[in-house]
Amino acid sequence: MHPIWTSLVIVALAGVAPAQTRETPADAPRLAQQSTPPDDGRDHLDDPNWLGPYVPTPTAVVDAALELAKVGEGDLVYDLGSGDGRIILAAAQRFQARAVGVEWNEKLCAKTSADVRRLGLEGRVKVIQGDIFEQDVSSASVVTAYLLPKSWERLAPILERQLSKGVRVVAVNDPVPGWPVVEKRHIEGESAIKSWDLYLYRMR
Ligand SMILES: C[S@@+](CC[C@H](N)C(=O)[O-])C[C@H]1O[C@@H](n2cnc3c(N)ncnc32)[C@H](O)[C@@H]1O
Repeated sequence: MHPIWTSLVIVALAGVAPAQTRETPADAPRLAQQSTPPDDGRDHLDDPNWLGPYVPTPTAVVDAALELAKVGEGDLVYDLGSGDGRIILAAAQRFQARAVGVEWNEKLCAKTSADVRRLGLEGRVKVIQGDIFEQDVSSASVVTAYLLPKSWERLAPILERQLSKGVRVVAVNDPVPGWPVVEKRHIEGESAIKSWDLYLYRMR
């Protein structure tokens, strides 16, 4: 498991909102700006479909993930567990793609929708408030996901069934077990817990 998950899952299992507790003093101002409280009244930890806590991907890593997948005009990007929508917003704003997020946290979806309107991206970006396991993602040309490593055990066979040949998948931080990596990118941070790995796959 990537080191960042180990600490975040311990925090989440302790019943403490990760966005409030994972930050170091140096991170605090940046995270305060980026994070939306994940409390939507649901006890996700007990939900068998819970695929991980809300942890926003830094902007530089978002851009690196979209670059790795060579996202461009004509792409339809799905971010599974879209958090505050930063990946789908970036896909449309900086990579000229259309994008859909799937996120079951009501507040994060509301923030995403507000940003979509504020940025004038209606018609190109939308967020679906719902469970990843209840979606049909077969229209995607690119899929991104930043979820707990165990998520791939259930998610990989679903993507194998739904996605067409050639669709690019970018896994943030942890690889998809059994899938051949097309390209890996490591992004160094200030410490081991802040470094990031991106894994690119192409559906066969
Ligand atoms: C690590 S965050 C990633 C957020 C965003 N993709 C990013 O990279 O900044 C994972 C997100 O997945 C959401 N999530 C976890 N399980 C889910 C499920 N079964 N259906 C929908 N969303 C889920 C969480 O609420 C959380 O916001």
